[in-house]
Amino acid sequence: MKPLYALSLLVATLPAIAQDVASLTAETKKAVLPVVPKVVNAMQEALADKGVAGAIPVCKEQAPELIKAKRQETGWDIRRVSLKPRNAERGTPDLWEARQLADFNIRAANGEKPETLEKSEVVQIDGKPVFRYVKALPVGDVCLKCHGPADGLDASLKAKLAESYPQDQATGYSKGEIRGALTVKRPL
Ligand code: HEC
Repeated sequence: MKPLYALSLLVATLPAIAQDVASLTAETKKAVLPVVPKVVNAMQEALADKGVAGAIPVCKEQAPELIKAKRQETGWDIRRVSLKPRNAERGTPDLWEARQLADFNIRAANGEKPETLEKSEVVQIDGKPVFRYVKALPVGDVCLKCHGPADGLDASLKAKLAESYPQDQATGYSKGEIRGALTVKRPL
């Protein structure tokens, strides 16, 4: 193929790819994002009813369960990740996710609102196109009880966390910081 022809083909396809990313993003958000307020509401209720140590299962079991249900419904790979995970087994980001999370921190420092931070991209994995979407999960008041500065945490909660997560990195956050992200991978 002549280089100029190849270039004009590429230029002709670029808007189509951009269009694709926009519609894939919209479709993905519509399917997956309703999980976020569900977890936050369940968290608020559990904290009010059961206290902070009693609310651990919401972030530990209920959030992963809701995500698992979405995974089964959509067939997509959906997870929660963090640069400072509490559960490293489930929550360690891959390279692409780590890069986006680092970028979210930079974008937030430059004044973007944490709750608006997201990124979509079509990438190649093992030679096949995969749509990736990631959305920041900012720290709100309710999160501070379990992810805030370690010396301010409830004693019984601390004991439970130490027991289940000896390698816990997920304390020391303040309100508005980015706790982690919801991440989606869709093979195309
Ligand atoms: C009652 C305690 C508690 C509260 C409140 C809480 N979390 Fe968590 N969070 C946990 C626990 C426990 C885990 C580990 C879950 C697991 O084992 O997968 C966790 C894990 C996470 C993870 C997965 C990545 C990781 O670090 O392992 C994210 C993201 C997260 N929390 C965000 C939040 C956000 C955002 C809020 C506020 C809306 C919040 N959490 C409130 C206890 C809590």
